[in-house]
Parts: sequence; structure tokens; C-alpha cells
Amino acid sequence: MRILVTGATGTLGGALVPALLKAGHEVRALSRTKRDGRGNVEWVWGDLISGNGVRDAVDGVDAIAHLATSGRRGRGAVDIPGTRTLMILAHAAGVPHVLFTSMVGADRAPYGHLRHKLEAERIVEESGLAWTILRATPFHQWLHERLRAHASLPALPVDRALPWQPVHTGEVATRAAALLSAGPTHRHLEYGGPQVLGTEELVRTWLRATGLRRPCLPVRYPGRLYAAQRAGHLTTDAAPKGEITWHDYLMPPAPVLSDDFASEHTASPTSPATQPEQDPDLRVYGGDEGYERPTRS
Ligand SMILES: NC(=O)c1ccc[n+]([C@@H]2O[C@H](COP(=O)([O-])OP(=O)(O)OC[C@H]3O[C@@H](n4cnc5c(N)ncnc54)[C@H](OP(=O)(O)O)[C@@H]3O)[C@@H](O)[C@H]2O)c1
Repeated sequence: MRILVTGATGTLGGALVPALLKAGHEVRALSRTKRDGRGNVEWVWGDLISGNGVRDAVDGVDAIAHLATSGRRGRGAVDIPGTRTLMILAHAAGVPHVLFTSMVGADRAPYGHLRHKLEAERIVEESGLAWTILRATPFHQWLHERLRAHASLPALPVDRALPWQPVHTGEVATRAAALLSAGPTHRHLEYGGPQVLGTEELVRTWLRATGLRRPCLPVRYPGRLYAAQRAGHLTTDAAPKGEITWHDYLMPPAPVLSDDFASEHTASPTSPATQPEQDPDLRVYGGDEGYERPTRS
């Protein structure tokens, strides 16, 4: 399939594009920055807010992965009018499937940025296109950046009662790629990380991973969105879920080697284990200095 990815340069897009290529799809990637196409990726220039370039972007694609967002501070500019423009032009072009990435809790806690995501979901559902909505929990990378932004503070304000369910973007991308390959579901699917952690555990794991020492200052974050998160509305029990934990994202475990891998890779180039034994003309000399293979004269 040829799949248009909006938000291809973003955190999730950076994982989804290779996942789609690996699954054998062609990718058309939309960005507001002009880029040269390389390999199987065809970069197209476009802006979902002005609508420039979007008609050409949707032309002739079999599906759209709509990831672009103006984020929590963007007042829904891409999520609402941008999604509407994309859906109108995609419908006119007869695109068979759109997958929209939303956030877990958009339906249960429609406040702040989640309100924009819910509104965008409705635009997708009412577009006349066949759709799938994939709601994810916060990405590891996003939480990491958010904590890094607080690293200069002498103490970290921590609301202990807030549950988080961080998920790895590589796993969200794999799930999104599988859904795109399978076709429209007309369903809202949730995808979360493997564990629900309190803010204090989340922060302490991050401090250990980054080697920083900061006291945690107990506070209560204000507002309706945090109240909804405290009540568990931003986490999900849905299966399947991701497997990579926050701890393993920050401090990846050493790879476990199979027996085969160990025997192939632990022997030195001069070890008998790596040399052909059957050919009497191929004899191995030397030790640490390397080896030489006599040639037939
Ligand atoms: N971050 C999280 O923790 C999280 C959690 C759950 C769900 N999600 C959802 O997952 C999706 C991807 O999030 P992300 O964190 O990967 O996003 P991101 O890193 O913030 O990237 C935003 C993307 O949107 C594109 N974009 C912004 N304004 C645009 C415009 N006017 N026209 C066209 N493209 C525009 C940017 O492309 P250019 O700059 O190249 O134009 C960029 O690729 C979003 O739908 C988000 O709501 C995110």
C-alpha cells in the first residue's frame, strides 16, 4: 500500500515510517519543511493549517496515518482545523482508510489538549472515510523531555497520587503499522505501556538513570485534567499493550545472547572455532597478530 504519514518528522512518525517500510509499504511523508525523497520515502511539502500542499499529498494514497499535531500548547490548530482540511480533501480523493492517533482519556477527560483530540476524533468519525482511532498513553520520550525541562530546578515537584502508563513509540508504531495493514476497524482502540507507575517512582527511576540528585517536593497539581488523571482516567487495561517498561527505556538491559550467537561471536578470528577444518590446504597461523591463509601454488 502507499500510505501518507502526516507528522512523519515527529516522535511517533520517526518510528512509524520505518515500521511501514519494513511491512512492505510505500510511504509518502508530509512535512512543512521541504525535503528530498530518499529510498522508498516520498517527502511532500504541506501545511495542514493553511491547507497548502494537502490536496497533492492525499492524491493516490491507499491510507493515511494522521499523526500531525500542534501539541499541548498549539490550541488544537492542527488537531481541529488541520484534521478537518485533511478529511475533506481525503474524502474528495477517495482515500480508503484513515488512522488517527489520539490519546487515552480523550473521551473520559475532555479537558485541555485532550478536548482538542476528542474534537478531532469526531471530525475523523464524521468524515465519511473508513477510520481507525488509536489512543495511546504518554510516550517515554515525551515524559523524558518533560522531566529534562525541570532538571534545573533544585527540587522536583511531585504529585504522588498521579498514575502514569508510559509507552514506547516503537511499540505504538508497530501497532499502528499492523492496523494500517489490516484495514479500517471503525473502532477506538487503546494502547498503553506495560505498567502503571506513580509519579514518584517515575521521577526516581529517571533520576537514577540520568545520575541527577534532586529532592522530590510533594505537591498536588491543580486543574480538572490532573484530577481526571488522579482518578485513573488516563490509563488503560486494553490489550495488547506495550512490553518495554519505563525503567528499560531509560536503562536498557544488556542483550541476552543465544548459545549460537555466543559461539559465533565470542571466538576470535584466529580461533579454531571460526576456521574451516575440512580443507587441508587452508591452515591457520598466528595468534593475536591475525592469521594468514596459504594459497595453492
Ligand atoms: N507525545 C505523546 O506522549 C503522545 C501520547 C499519545 C498520543 N500522541 C499522539 O500521537 C501523535 C504524534 O505525536 P508526536 O508526539 O509524535 O508529535 P510531535 O513529535 O509533536 O510531532 C508533531 C508533528 O506534527 C507535524 N506538524 C505540526 N504542525 C503541522 C502543520 N501545520 N502541518 C503539517 N504538519 C504539522 C510536525 O511536522 P513538521 O514540523 O515536519 O511539519 C511533526 O512531525 C499525535 O496525534 C499525538 O496527539 C502523543
